[in-house]
Order: sequence, then structure tokens, then C-alpha cells
Amino acid sequence: MSSKKEALRKIKSLCYLTLGGSVAYQFIYMKKDFNGYYGKFLQPASQYLNPELAHRVGVSAIKYGFFPSEKFTDPKVLDTNFLDSKLNNPLGIAAGFDKHGDAVNGLKNIGFSIIEVGSVTPEPQPGNPKPRVFRLPEDEAVINRYGFNSEGHDKVYKKICNIDKTLLDNCLLGINLGKNKVSENAVQDYTLGIKKFCDVADYFVINISSPNTPGLRSLQKKEELHELLTEINKTRNLVQSTKKIPLLLKLAPDLTIEEIKDIVSVITKKESKVDGLIISNTTIDRPLLINKTFPNETGGLSGRPLANKSTEMIRNVYKLTKGKIPIIGVGGVFTGQDAYEKILAGASAVQIYTAFIYHGPPVITKIKSELAELLERDGYKNVNEAVGKGVK
Ligand SMILES: Cc1cc2nc3c(=O)[nH]c(=O)nc-3n(C[C@H](O)[C@H](O)[C@H](O)COP(=O)(O)O)c2cc1C
Repeated sequence: MSSKKEALRKIKSLCYLTLGGSVAYQFIYMKKDFNGYYGKFLQPASQYLNPELAHRVGVSAIKYGFFPSEKFTDPKVLDTNFLDSKLNNPLGIAAGFDKHGDAVNGLKNIGFSIIEVGSVTPEPQPGNPKPRVFRLPEDEAVINRYGFNSEGHDKVYKKICNIDKTLLDNCLLGINLGKNKVSENAVQDYTLGIKKFCDVADYFVINISSPNTPGLRSLQKKEELHELLTEINKTRNLVQSTKKIPLLLKLAPDLTIEEIKDIVSVITKKESKVDGLIISNTTIDRPLLINKTFPNETGGLSGRPLANKSTEMIRNVYKLTKGKIPIIGVGGVFTGQDAYEKILAGASAVQIYTAFIYHGPPVITKIKSELAELLERDGYKNVNEAVGKGVK
């Protein structure tokens, strides 16, 4: 009997020792080589969670500093002048990751220099019924139809006010504005956003290109766009006496060249002008995809299959505007080469989202270091020198 007890005690001790050893090993591994640890353990584990839960866990992990600060120091060649601000690198996190302004400081710590919060709607709203996000890993793509789930202006504004701005040096904080699903006055929804966030935003994004809010994309039509941007400009001039916060327009990649020309004609008029464009939002197109389970889900497709489409649109808009309107390029950027292609096509800065879903924080350093090598290889001294150099 006593020898049985003794054996049990030994097994228990062995279990504790193994568990303790494994926790210590994971901790030391994580501290020593976070990127390796992330790729080997955290990334595969996150793919077992449903995509929306994984998204929430990811935002919380960044908010509470679970991911260590980036070790990589941005080389000089990544210096970027964008919207009259000096940034250490041209990489941003696209709208839709930090929808409610929870993780701004954390996103800066892991290496982004442009952080876009939103889309935020005036009133809180739940968005579309779940499930509403689908991973297509074989295609390195995602389909989402969140439908602007938002905590609303007031709550997000309070969070932004509580951010430690001193930690956001050389960094831009964008507020991406959307409209409520049931709102019948889109113009008012956007002007309310300008009024609400005018003392905390470094730039505004007018998002009229999400495919998941009925009727939203029709605001890209010439007359409607002219009315919308004229009112937004008036509001901006009223509320901002000293500094004028840059206004960016985010476009869909599914516009025809005629529609793009119409948009350019509007945004170059004095009364309805914008200071920049974001190209592009997700696509409603379904190119040939490897994944056979989800392509028929409605929503916007992002990631790899969007890359060429958005780069082509950047090139077209850069040509049409003669490079006079700064562009943030977004859509399917996973590598330094992808970012470089968007810069050569006319983008002054680049954002990512889907690559972050599949590869997490290590992809930030990867994109930046690869981009720096490419810029140096081609003899550029900084990012601005390379903008539009691939456009004939
Ligand atoms: C899950 C998800 C949610 C998104 N939500 C928003 C949003 O609220 N507002 C917005 O302007 N864009 C939103 N986007 C679009 C992204 O900002 C980006 O334009 C698009 O995903 C293309 O970039 P990517 O291929 O790097 O993901 C969302 C994208 C994804 C994948």
C-alpha cells in the first residue's frame, strides 16, 4: 500500500516537473525568439479559434502588451514623409483591425507607423449576424461581412482621448468614419464624425467603399460624392480653425475606369477636394480561388487575390491625378516586394490587414526589412523617392 502511494507521489511530481519545465521552456523561447515562437506555437493555435474570436483575442493581446515591442530599428531608407508628417516607416495597420480604438499604443509598439481606427459609426450598432468572417488559408485570403459593428462615436472618442499621445511620436492616428445601417442621412453621419474626432485625429478617412452596408458604395457616384465631400469640407473648415486635418477617401477596387475618372474629377475640385486616397477596400469579385468552402459567402474578399487588382488601381489613379494626391496602398501586401510594387505604382504609404491575420506581428518586421533592402538595392534614399517610379 505504501509503495503504491509512493509511486503515485512520484508520478505526480514527474507531471508537475514536466508541466513546469514546458512552461519555462515556452517562456524562455518566447523571450529569446518571439518571432520563431509565434510562428511555431501561437500562429497555428490561433487558426483553431473561430476567426472573429481570434480577432478579439489578437486585439486584446496587443492592447495588454502581450506581444513584445519590435526589436527591429527602422533604417533611414524607410523614412517617409506622408501628409506633412515625418514617419520612420511607411507601414500601417488598415481599418477594421482596431475597430474601436482599443490597441493604438500597442500597435505602435509592434512596429506600425500609421494606425487607423474604425470604421466608427455615429451610434453603436452590432453589425451583421455571425458568422461573418471566413478564412481561406489556401488563398491567404479572408471574406468578411462584419457590416460596421461599432461601439459608436462617443465610446471610441473617450478611448482615443485616453491614449498616451506622447508614445505616438512619428506616428499617424487615423479615424476611419462609416455610417449607421439605418441612417437615412449619410452626409450627416460623416460630418458628425468630423466634428466628434477633430481634436484627436491626425487624418480622417471617409469610408464609402465597404461592400457590407447596403447602398454605401453608391456614394462613390459622381453627384452623390460631390455633395458628400462638399458638406464634409464645409464642416471641416468650420470646426478647425488652426490646423486642417487631412481628409482621405477610401475607394473600392471594383470601380470601372469611367467611375474612377468621375471620382478624380470630383476630388480635384476646390469645394469637394480630398488630401489623399486609400486604395483599396475589399472586393466583391470572386477570382478563381483554391478554397471551395467559402467563396460563395457574401462579403468583401481581402488578401492575396486582391493584390494585383488594388495595385493596378493605384497605378491608374496615380496617372489620372498626375501623382498630386497622396495614396495609401492596401490590398494583399504580405512581403516587402508586395509593398514595393504598390509604392512604385504610386502609393506613398502601405497598409496591411489580412497578412497580419495569417502571420501576426513578425510580418511587420519582415515587410519592412525586405522593403528596405529593395529600396537600397535600387539606389533610393527614402520611400518618397521611389513613389510612382514604376508608372510610365
Ligand atoms: C475582417 C476585416 C474587417 C474590415 N473592416 C474594415 C472597416 O471597418 N473599414 C474599412 O475601411 N476597411 C475594413 N476592412 C478592409 C481593410 O481595411 C483593407 O482595405 C482590406 O482588407 C485590404 O487589405 P488586406 O488585403 O491587407 O487585408 C476590413 C478587412 C477585413 C479583412
